[in-house]
Amino acid sequence: MDWGMSNRMNRIFNPKDGRTVMLAIDHGYFLGPLSCLEDPRKTIEPLVPYIDSLMPTRGVLRNCVDPKLNLPIVLRVSGGNSIVGKDLSNEGITVSLEDAVRLNVSAVALSIYVGSEHEHQTLTNLAKLINEAQNYGIPVLAVTAVGKELDKRDARYLALSCRIAAELGAQIVKTYYCDDFEKVVKSCPVPVVIAGGPKANSELDVFEMAYNALACGAKGVDMGRNIWQSKSSVAMISSIQAIVHQGYTVKKALALFNGFKK
Ligand code: 5RP
Repeated sequence: MDWGMSNRMNRIFNPKDGRTVMLAIDHGYFLGPLSCLEDPRKTIEPLVPYIDSLMPTRGVLRNCVDPKLNLPIVLRVSGGNSIVGKDLSNEGITVSLEDAVRLNVSAVALSIYVGSEHEHQTLTNLAKLINEAQNYGIPVLAVTAVGKELDKRDARYLALSCRIAAELGAQIVKTYYCDDFEKVVKSCPVPVVIAGGPKANSELDVFEMAYNALACGAKGVDMGRNIWQSKSSVAMISSIQAIVHQGYTVKKALALFNGFKK
């Protein structure tokens, strides 16, 4: 691996354990000012000490993230859709690699929609982005998006999507946790991180998801709503950080969460 590419990967994934706690705050690119992300600066600031990397859009990065922070950025570079539009899978590349370099990002992120009406378009978007990012030594994170079809998230479908992303050359794949998750990770030759998905019923559910994903071989989390939509977002992120980097069990993480809340 070229030095630049390797250095960026090692900025995102802590070289001590090869894992990452990535905070996803890119949702506004198709959801607008969703709950708890109305003022991204306020949402992000208290969480920064606990994360290894941040996944924003270009607009939020420029306007709401302090450039003095030494924080690896995984920049969302796909979009062109909205929650009220006809089809969430109809995405294009929205940021040039030149601008990504100008913003000093450590990786770029793009969604693919396997099995959707725009499957071909999103997969060729990914291939084009990888071709170009390779010139600058910038890793590409592929998000295996499902749009509104949340029930698609089973091991067979996610293994297919993750493998296609890796075959096209993505250096990192972000997907959902599911039953038989080991199958998804085992058949994907690049690091897999998990999204959190919509707000879970309890903190315990989120800790179990993160713990089980790591036990199945995931290299970290790239979570959003289950962190910053929590009433105790700092307690949430510090407990997730403890699971990812300090080997905390679910029980220990829950105790840490409850202690933090007090
Ligand atoms: C939106 C995304 C989000 O970054 C992703 O879904 C992670 O956030 P959450 O944990 O809220 O699911 O890629 O398309």
